[in-house]
Amino acid sequence: MALTGLFLITFITLHLAINLLTMVSKDAFNEASHFMATNPLIQVMQYVLAAGFLIHIVMGINLTLKNKSARPEKYAYNRPSANSGFSSRSMIITGMLVLVFLVLHLRDYFVELKFGDMNGFDNDYDLVVTLFGMWYYTLIYVLAFIALGIHLNHGFQSAFQSMGANHSRYTPLIKKLGAVYCVIIAAGFSAIAIFHFVNA
Ligand code: HEM
Repeated sequence: MALTGLFLITFITLHLAINLLTMVSKDAFNEASHFMATNPLIQVMQYVLAAGFLIHIVMGINLTLKNKSARPEKYAYNRPSANSGFSSRSMIITGMLVLVFLVLHLRDYFVELKFGDMNGFDNDYDLVVTLFGMWYYTLIYVLAFIALGIHLNHGFQSAFQSMGANHSRYTPLIKKLGAVYCVIIAAGFSAIAIFHFVNA
């Protein structure tokens, strides 16, 4: 889970960097997007990415089911907030929300760009701008980005812990870094959606 999680974090960071270009320059974004869609190495990496998502999802569901079956009866006295944060307790829920978003997102972008007629547009930028022009589309996306941020808040530090990086000095630092990172991701993606909605 940790390895696939860190791999997906790398992808999401790169994806955000490229998408931020939509707020700066149509040509720069289209060029970067075209490079990602045609570069042979990236084409191979798309299969690795798909496998990464799949393994991460299957292992996440498996882990949740195992945790549940390890203690089928509820505690007589339970105060989960005393020893775990909201992000950590809601991983399966935020993960599922991100998965629903991903299906919608891949249908509208990936499938449309690869196999469709791109809703009649001849470049990625026009598709992005048109979709975010619809208020409900922007709203669904922003809610998904908040869910993704909450998921990453726990996921970031958990990945390091799973790989054995547990240290009294560095773990608090990794947790802080994770908190900053998840805000950058949620706010960065949301800014793009809201920017195009406002300017539509
Ligand atoms: C403002 C937000 C976003 C925009 C504008 C956006 C835009 C795009 C575009 C244009 C593509 C097609 C790229 C191509 O094949 O040429 C794409 C693909 C993809 N996006 Fe996003 N995206 C956003 C957020 C996200 C988020 C948050 C995730 C993950 C949680 C994500 C995951 C993916 C995946 C897995 C693909 C397919 C792989 C690929 O083609 O590289 N996207 N996105």
